[in-house]
Amino acid sequence: MFKTLAPPDPTEFAGKRAVVTGGSRGIGAATAQRLLDGGATVVTTARKATDEMPKAATFIAGDLSTLTGVRAFAEAALGVLGGVDILVNNAGAARAHLGGTSSIPDEEWLDSVNLNYLSAVRVTNALLPALREGGAIVNISSVAARLPTPQLAHYSAAKAALNAYGKALAAELAPAGIRVTTILPGNVVTPGGEAIRQDLADAVGISLDDIRSGIPLGRPGDPRDVAETVAYLASDRAQWITGATLVLDGGEVPLI
Ligand SMILES: NC(=O)c1ccc[n+]([C@@H]2O[C@H](COP(=O)([O-])OP(=O)(O)OC[C@H]3O[C@@H](n4cnc5c(N)ncnc54)[C@H](OP(=O)(O)O)[C@@H]3O)[C@@H](O)[C@H]2O)c1
Repeated sequence: MFKTLAPPDPTEFAGKRAVVTGGSRGIGAATAQRLLDGGATVVTTARKATDEMPKAATFIAGDLSTLTGVRAFAEAALGVLGGVDILVNNAGAARAHLGGTSSIPDEEWLDSVNLNYLSAVRVTNALLPALREGGAIVNISSVAARLPTPQLAHYSAAKAALNAYGKALAAELAPAGIRVTTILPGNVVTPGGEAIRQDLADAVGISLDDIRSGIPLGRPGDPRDVAETVAYLASDRAQWITGATLVLDGGEVPLI
């Protein structure tokens, strides 16, 4: 069980303007809520609104899998915020292909690259002129980037590209005082994450609990685990961290 935390400092992000993509549910909704709780003004986006998304955030519907969709969203977001201090590139999705890499259709490779990688590149490019010194970009990648599986090869490859992009961007933006970090979540209980894992579990006749049983800290991730980490990385507490990738997985992935 996720331990309830003490309420965050409501002034930590006072005056900060944040954009969280994919903020309608799961990790994005929890992150938007956490930044709001810290005093930020938050804009979120997704294709469809949900009851799960924080009411205090401004929601702008949009499809980030195309350049046109990204540009329309960025223009609307800047119309609301005027400038940006914190950008969380979180929108992402995947569908497992049980037949492995060669069964993944060409258009799904393209879809995955567009959403899981290029949406972050495009949103960042569109908002960069409005990002201020002292700003922070946090990209949400996946442990799949480091442990690719045949069923999710398209997703894993797109997230690996996102990791490389984040490292390059960090070097470029450091002189401007903008930090870039990348979180690689493991098994986090969200609508999207559970749907993928259910398909994979069904294919081999095991349960979601079986999949979770290998997590050393004894539970899957809660979206708030990721949100809390985003809040840290976006804050001045992480002022000397840039270009870093952080695996956030309860100890599941055996890598250094
Ligand atoms: N949960 C996990 O175990 C896990 C593990 C590793 C990495 N991640 C990463 O964490 C991020 C959040 O995932 P999640 O687990 O919270 O998934 P989720 O519950 O499926 O939420 C995904 C969010 O992205 C939005 N989105 C999807 N396609 C979009 C599009 N074309 N344009 C704009 N928004 C779009 C969704 O809204 P709409 O569908 O309405 O557009 C939703 O708000 C993703 O990048 C995912 O790859 C998750």
